[in-house]
Amino acid sequence: MAKIVGILNTSHVPALGKAIHLNLQEDPYWKPFFDGFKPIHDWLARVKPDVVISCYNDHGLNFFLDKQPTFAIGTANEYRSEDEGWGIPTMPTFPGAADFSWHLRDALVRDDFDMVTCQEMLVDHAFTLPMALLWPDQKWPVRCIPVCVNTVLFPLPSGRRCYRLGEAIGRAVAAYPEDLKVLVIGSGGLSHQLEGERAGFINKEFDLQFMDSMVTDPQWATQFSDVDLVEKTGNEGVELLNWLAARGTVPGPVKVTHSNFHIPISNTAAATMLLEPV
Ligand code: DHB
Ligand code: FE
Repeated sequence: MAKIVGILNTSHVPALGKAIHLNLQEDPYWKPFFDGFKPIHDWLARVKPDVVISCYNDHGLNFFLDKQPTFAIGTANEYRSEDEGWGIPTMPTFPGAADFSWHLRDALVRDDFDMVTCQEMLVDHAFTLPMALLWPDQKWPVRCIPVCVNTVLFPLPSGRRCYRLGEAIGRAVAAYPEDLKVLVIGSGGLSHQLEGERAGFINKEFDLQFMDSMVTDPQWATQFSDVDLVEKTGNEGVELLNWLAARGTVPGPVKVTHSNFHIPISNTAAATMLLEPV
C-alpha cells in the first residue's frame, strides 16, 4: 500500500531560483531561509520517499486567465519547466508517476472532485522551487504528481474545499496497492502581496497562528473565505490554500519534524514546515 511519510509545506519565492543558480545559499540575505532545509535534507536521506504529490498553484505558465481550472492533476510521464520571466533557469525534466496519477484522478473524480486531467503540463516555480530546495543537485530521486489549485483567479476554492481535496487524496493514496512512500508538498505563502496599495503587506501574527494550527487545529483556517484570507494574508498569501490541501492528506495528528519562518524573502514571509504523521 502507498503511504504518506511526510508533508512539506514551503514558500516558493521566484528569487530563490536565481539565488540557487548563483549559489547564494550562504549569503546573509538568503542563509536564514536555505538553512531551514538542512535538517530536511537529512530527513530525506533517511526516509527516501518514492513519489511526490505536489499541491501548488500555477502563476500563468500552464494555465492563464482564459482557462483556469479550480483543480487540475497531471497524468504525464514527465513534466517540464519553462522560462517564466523571473530569471530562473529551467530545471531538469521531472519524472511523472503516470499510473499513480491516473489512479488518483479516477479516485478524486469518483469522490466528487472535478479534476481537470492534464496529459501534458508545464510546471512553474511553485512546483519546481520546492523540488530544488529539497534536492539541490536536481537529480530528482522521486516520481512526481502535480496537483494544481487555483489561487489566482477569483473566486478561489474555499479553504474547506482544499482541505477536503487533501482528505480525498489521502484516501486515494491509502488505496493504491503499490508499496510506495509518498511525500506531499504544499507550495506557497505565507503572507505576501505583490501589487496594489497593499504591496509588501505581511501579517506575521496570522502566519504564526496558521503554522501552529497545522498541528493543533488543522482546519482552523477553513473558517475564512477566500476574500477573508486575502485581507489577512495578502493577495498572494492566499496560496496557503495549498498548505491546507497538503495537510488534509493526513487524517490524524502530525508532529513538526522541522519548521522555519523568516521575514522577508523578496516580498514574502517565507516559511517551511515538515510534518510527519504520528
Ligand atoms: C513572490 C512570491 C510568490 O509566491 C510568487 O509566486 C512570486 C513572487 C515574491 O515575494 O517576490
Ligand atoms: Fe506564488
